This record gives sequence, C-alpha cells and structure tokens, in this order.
Amino acid sequence: MPARTLGLAAISVAALALLVWVLVHWRLPGNDAGYTPVQPIAFSHRLHSTDLQINCLYCHAGANTARYAGMPAANVCMNCHRFVAAPTQAVKDEQWRAAREGRDVRRIVSDAMRTLYRAQGLDDALRPDPKITPQPIAWVRVTQFPDFAYFDHRAHSRVGIECQRCHGEVQTFERTRQDQSLSMGSCVACHRESNRQGVNGMAVQASLDCVSCHR
Ligand code: HEC
Ligand code: HEC
Ligand code: HEC
Ligand code: HEC
Ligand code: HEC
Repeated sequence: MPARTLGLAAISVAALALLVWVLVHWRLPGNDAGYTPVQPIAFSHRLHSTDLQINCLYCHAGANTARYAGMPAANVCMNCHRFVAAPTQAVKDEQWRAAREGRDVRRIVSDAMRTLYRAQGLDDALRPDPKITPQPIAWVRVTQFPDFAYFDHRAHSRVGIECQRCHGEVQTFERTRQDQSLSMGSCVACHRESNRQGVNGMAVQASLDCVSCHR
C-alpha cells in the first residue's frame, strides 16, 4: 500500500474514534440530570416552599400564563427580606449576647442578605448607596434547553400537570438541581401516553410533530 493511502486510513480511524468519543461524552443540556450549580445566593426551596409554605407561583409567576416560568426579581425577595436580614437563629443569638453584655441589639445582616441588598444598590441599613450600581442577581440556570428545542409552560399547566412531574420534589431541595432527564424521549413518551389516557380526566392533543418542539 502506498504511504499516502496508509496516512489517510490512519486519519480516518482517528476521526472515527474522535466522533465516537464525542457521541459518548456529549450531553445535551436536557439530559443533565443531577446538575446542581452553585448559585450567587444559597437559596433553599425547602425553607421557602415547605417551612414557609410560599406558593411556587409567588416567585415563578409565568408558569401558568406564559412560555417561561420566570425568575423572581429581587424586590419579590425584599417583601420579606426588608425585615428578615439574617437567619432567625443568628438574630436570637445576638439578642442573647446583647442581653448578657447589657448593650443594644445590633442589626445582623447575613452574607446572603448582603448580596441581595447590594444587588439593589442598598447598604446594610437599606439606604441607597450611590457607590453601588444595582444589578440583577445572576442566578445560574439549572434547566435550560438549547435554542432548537421549544418548551411552553402554559400548555402543561392548562391541563393541571404539576411542576414536580418535570422538576421533581423541588419543595424538598436544599439546593436546586435538575432532578431528571428532560430529553426528547421523555417529552415524546408523555405526549403519547397523554393522548392515549388523557390527563386528569381530560382528553388532550399533545403534539408529536417535530415542528411543535423544534421551530
Ligand atoms: C414533544 C417535544 C418534541 C418533539 C415532538 C420532537 N422533539 Fe426532538 N427534541 C426535543 C427535546 C426536548 C430535545 C433535546 C433537548 C435537550 O436534551 O437538551 C430534542 C432533541 C432533538 C435532536 C438532537 C439530538 C437528540 O436526539 O437529542 C434532534 C436531531 C431532534 N430532536 C429531532 C426531532 C425530530 C426529527 C422530530 C420529529 C420526528 C422531533 N425531534 C420531535 C423535543 C421534541
Ligand atoms: C412538562 C414539564 C414541565 C412542567 C410541568 C413544568 N416545567 Fe418548568 N421547565 C421545564 C423545561 C423543559 C424547562 C426548560 C425550558 C427552556 O429552557 O426553554 C423549564 C424551565 C423552568 C424554569 C426556568 C426557566 C423559566 O421558564 O423561567 C423555571 C423557574 C421553572 N421551569 C419552574 C416551573 C414551575 C414553578 C412549574 C409549575 C408551576 C413548572 N416549571 C412546570 C419543564 C416543565
Ligand atoms: C414570604 C417571605 C419570604 C420571601 C418572599 C423570601 N424569603 Fe427568604 N426567608 C424568609 C424567612 C422568614 C427566612 C428566615 C428563616 C429562618 O432562618 O428561620 C428566610 C431565609 C432566607 C435565607 C437564609 C437566611 C440567610 O440570611 O442567609 C436566604 C438566603 C433567603 N431567605 C433568600 C431569599 C431570596 C433570594 C428570596 C427571593 C427569591 C427570598 N428569600 C424570598 C422569608 C422569605
Ligand atoms: C421565594 C421564591 C421562590 C419560591 C416560592 C419558589 N422558587 Fe423556584 N427558584 C427561586 C429562585 C431564587 C431560583 C434560582 C436559584 C436556584 O436555582 O436555587 C429558583 C429556581 C427554580 C428552578 C430552576 C430553574 C432553572 O432552570 O434555572 C425551578 C425548576 C424551580 N425554581 C421550581 C420551583 C417550584 C416547583 C416551586 C414550588 C414548589 C418553587 N420553585 C418555589 C425562587 C423561588
Ligand atoms: C406529563 C406529561 C408531559 C410531559 C412530560 C411533557 N408534555 Fe408537552 N404536553 C403535554 C400535554 C398533555 C400537552 C397538550 C395539552 C393540551 O391538549 O392542551 C402538551 C403540549 C405541549 C406543547 C404544545 C404543543 C402544541 O400542541 O402546540 C409543547 C410545545 C410541548 N408540550 C412540549 C414539551 C416538551 C419539549 C417536553 C419535554 C421537556 C414536554 N412537552 C413534556 C404533556 C406533557
């Protein structure tokens, strides 16, 4: 065999090996079950949804009415965190120390609340600080499809499919993670099943056309 052919053969074997490696290791975002990014503020759904019983829609208002569920703006947090500047236990500890030392109770501001206040250009006493530029909190997306896949919350909330069906038992999560694979297979399987059995006693038409989810 001439050397040139051998060289070409070696290159195609290498190219094939690379392709196989990419196919095995490539993970589409929707398949990233278990993904738990670090967030700019350690927000706990368990605390807010289970202990404090705040409804999902209070913070993700779009989930019933829009394509995107939406992220809460900082002023939604401020409805409470204007007053709650630190964990209850830290406040109690300070009250106890102040009583023991016979002094006034100091206002305790946790690191997390400091981040929340700074994001709105406020100092610890909630006064606007001209030196700080307000910036939205850069929450890291946990579940995000590539542009070629189209999802709409509305179509699902309309027939009463619960958040937990796709996002897992979020109200128990200390840190938000992608609970399950949201791959094409999982979408199509439920669309088939729903068309056969209905959803919550309603007959539905869940599309299996490529263009419904790739537009
Ligand atoms: C019910 C929604 C839905 C339908 C219907 C659907 N897809 Fe998909 N498709 C998806 C989602 C979601 C993804 C992956 C997103 C991710 O994993 O990040 C995907 C991924 C893909 C990919 C990327 C590779 C892969 O397999 O994950 C291709 C190619 C694709 N779809 C083609 C098609 C074609 C062709 C059809 C029609 C026969 C179709 N899709 C119908 C939702 C759908
Ligand atoms: C049928 C599955 C399904 C259900 C039910 C569902 N979601 Fe989602 N959710 C998704 C998918 C898929 C994405 C990613 C979509 C994208 O990137 O375009 C997502 C994204 C999100 C996001 C981040 C992006 C955004 O839309 O703002 C939030 C927040 C969210 N969902 C909250 C909720 C809440 C709250 C509920 C219940 C009221 C809910 N979801 C019900 C599948 C679902
Ligand atoms: C309905 C009231 C309410 C809303 C709205 C609310 N929180 Fe809270 N949050 C609380 C209470 C009360 C605590 C204190 C719980 C304890 O320590 O016992 C708390 C605790 C926290 C903590 C842990 C305590 C600390 O200082 O580190 C963080 C972080 C937090 N919240 C972030 C947020 C963020 C971010 C938002 C907006 C997306 C938000 N909260 C919205 C009531 C609320
Ligand atoms: C007090 C406000 C608040 C409440 C109530 C709340 N969330 Fe969230 N949620 C957030 C914040 C802030 C984030 C972004 C930080 C994070 O991922 O932990 C988030 C992130 C999410 C995400 C990840 C979105 C993505 O793809 O990045 C999902 C899914 C979600 N929430 C679902 C729910 C569900 C379901 C409920 C009800 C059981 C709920 N949330 C209740 C504030 C809230
Ligand atoms: C729990 C079952 C279930 C899951 C999981 C599910 N869907 Fe659906 N979806 C439905 C049903 C049921 C409808 C139709 C509702 C109706 O008839 O009004 C629907 C409707 C839709 C529509 C509106 C399409 C149209 O008919 O115009 C889109 C887009 C869609 N789904 C995308 C997705 C994608 C992408 C995923 C995967 C992340 C997904 N769905 C996962 C049950 C599901």
